[in-house]
Order: sequence, then structure tokens, then C-alpha cells
Amino acid sequence: MKPIKKQLKIPGDKSISHRALILAAIANGVTEIRNISKSRDVLSTITCLKNLGIFIKIKKSTAFVFGNGLHGLRKSNRYLDCENSGTTMRLLMGLLCSQSFTSILVGDESLSKRPMWRAAEPLVKMGARISLHKNNFAPIVINPTKLHAINFSLKIASAQIKSAIILSGLFCSEITTLSGLIETRDHTERLLKLFNSNIGIVKNSTILIKGNQKLNSCVINIPGDPSSAAFFIIAACLVPNAKIKLNKILLNQTRIGFINILKRMGANINIETKSIENCEPLGTVTVSYSILHAIQIYDHEISNIIDEIPILSIAFTQAIGINAIKNAQELRTKECDRLNAISHNLKKMGVDIKVMHDGFKIKGPQKLSGTQIETFGDHRIAMAFKIAGLIAVSEIKIDNEKCIEISDRNFNKNFEIFKTNYIG
Ligand code: S3P
Repeated sequence: MKPIKKQLKIPGDKSISHRALILAAIANGVTEIRNISKSRDVLSTITCLKNLGIFIKIKKSTAFVFGNGLHGLRKSNRYLDCENSGTTMRLLMGLLCSQSFTSILVGDESLSKRPMWRAAEPLVKMGARISLHKNNFAPIVINPTKLHAINFSLKIASAQIKSAIILSGLFCSEITTLSGLIETRDHTERLLKLFNSNIGIVKNSTILIKGNQKLNSCVINIPGDPSSAAFFIIAACLVPNAKIKLNKILLNQTRIGFINILKRMGANINIETKSIENCEPLGTVTVSYSILHAIQIYDHEISNIIDEIPILSIAFTQAIGINAIKNAQELRTKECDRLNAISHNLKKMGVDIKVMHDGFKIKGPQKLSGTQIETFGDHRIAMAFKIAGLIAVSEIKIDNEKCIEISDRNFNKNFEIFKTNYIG
């Protein structure tokens, strides 16, 4: 194995960045968010919060958010444009449905096709006055009202829906309780502890949110985004001779399901938790070239690997045996229909893949041929297939590389460093 010469720079976690900004906006005082993600999605959240009257200063990779307190947001005199970001839209629905003013949320073409009733439904049960285009889509009009707490059982394993309810619960005078499918990424719950340790309690598979409490400003260091690291972790598994070490990566169990899966496939990956910062574990991930064996993914694992399935599908093409994923129909509701995008592009590369309504099967190993990749404007499809290009027998072309900055502005730089080291 040949260790990489230059360190790859993994950006700050996108999910934590959105949540830190939103909670900081309704805290009292200035919150300092270090190593914030500079992705386009996070910039969408920043722009929306600025339009809601929050002063935010960015200095290098630190954001200073001047919180106006729980009731300090003001009406935006323009539409709140969430662009491509589902997290921005669904979390802002939770934040804005109990304000004393009207807000209108809009998104780009992709976001305007994604289902929003799933987040509106519990909020409407709390008394929110939300109208959706065709009862399910953006533009979303949120009218002023006062909310009441509810006991809600989540039927969709979605951290965005869970977080929308938690945010709206902050504005109720009673206790909101959440049960059901709550074991998704838990950054909102963890961050709340930093802003005020008395608001959110997680016990007996239930989340309890005590409303009408003051949030105190704080300093937050954002760890490296495991979902951005995943592309290079899998590249290192697939490219002969590769060896990389990534530092300060978020190691929250709800986010590293893909590492557990790769390890079961026989990947040479070592993770070492170095510290707990801001209630989140972080540490080092070391990976080297591996002979992979096929895997069947369990249904309960899907929600914690949902963003990594496009890049895992590339690993499956090289794993010996039959790889199978099912219960992953949520992939059809992401930035594009990712089940379709994965199968469409793998087939174009000459891969034999069987697609079902909720998953797919791939028998590996298979040869990948170069072709023109259709990203459907989806950043994770673009990045997954750029990595596929590293092991393809001929050159691939990506139809739209620009979409990569939706989650990672460093990706292309890291990609070039990796390629120069191991492919030449
Ligand atoms: C996210 C949650 C997931 C994930 C998305 C980011 C978040 O979506 O796919 O990329 O930050 O809460 P769902 O909660 O809809 O599954």
C-alpha cells in the first residue's frame, strides 16, 4: 500500500451545519460555528435566515450568528428560496409555522418535485396553517398561528421530519413527544443539549421537547462530513495500492452505517474515536485497497446509509457475489430518483443490474466501461460516478459537474489529489 502524499480535506458536516445555524438564529447572543460547511445547501439556509432578520458574518470557515432569541425572527420581504436543499425547506417549515408572520418557501425544479406533506402533516396536527402546492409540494405558504404540543409517532424514518417537529416543539408551551421511527441522524437532539441542556430529553425510545425555553449561544466545532468522506473511503477500497487517512471525521453511529457495511464486505478500514466534541464523537478513518465480498443489506440499515447508497452501488460492482438492497424506496424521493439514476448510469457503463421498485441486485465483480454520465443534477450521483471513472476501463464524462458544490466544494480538488497519487 502506498499512503497518499497530500492530506484530503473533508468539509464540515452539512447536516450539523444547517442545524447549528437554525438553532443559533433563535438563541440569545452570538454563536460561533467553526469549520462550517460551505456547500450550496448550507448557503441556502444562511440566505434564508438572513432574510428572516438574522445577522450572520462569515470569516474564513467560521460563521458568527447573532441570535435574536426565540421570538426574534422577522417577516422576510421576499420568498425564502431553499434552492436544492430539502433539509433547509423541511427544517424551516418547523421553525416558521408558529411565527406571527407569513412565510413563503420555494425551491428549484428538483426540490419542487419532492414530497413535503410528510413534514407538514405533524405540524398541521400541532395547529400549523400550511398550504402546499397540490397538497404536497413547494411553493409552501405558512401562515401565522400558535401551536400546541402533540404526541407523534413517526412512520417515515426521516431526520428532516423529526427535526421539523422538534423545532416547532420549541415554540409550544407544553411538552412535545416523538416516538416511532426516531433512530435516524440525531444531530438536532445533540445540538439542543449545547444550547440548553434542559430542553430535549431522549429516553425509552422517545424524544421529549420542553417548549418556550431560552437557548443560549455557544461555540460549535463542526467535524468532517462522513457523507463527503464516503466517496474517498470507497475510492481507497477500490483502487489498487491506495491508502488514505482522514482526520476529525464525524463518527456518529447514525452516519457511519456505510463503514459498518464496508467492513462486513471485508474492507480494510480502521476507525478510531479520538474525542467527543459538541456531544458528537469524532476521530480518524484509515482505509486501504481491499478485496470486497458481496453483501445483503438489512432493511433496518437503510435509513442510516441512505445518502451513501449511490457510492456503495459502485463498490457492489466490484464485490464478489450477489449484492442486494431492498426497502430503499426513499431513494426515489431524493434530489432525483436515485434508484433510477444508479441503474441508468451503471447500465450505460455496461453493468448487469436488476432493479426492483425498492432496491436492486448486482452480481460482482463486473467491468465498468467509460460513457457519458447523466447526473440528473444530483450531486451524489455526479460524485459516485466520478469515483466509478477511476476504475473504469475507458474514460467517463459527467454531464453536469457544477452540481457537486451542492454538498462539497472540495470534492474536485480531493479527487485530483487522489487520482494523481494512484492513477497518474
Ligand atoms: C438529512 C436527512 C436525510 C438525508 C439528507 C440530509 C438531514 O433525509 O437524506 O441528505 O440533514 O436531516 P431524510 O430525513 O428525508 O431521510
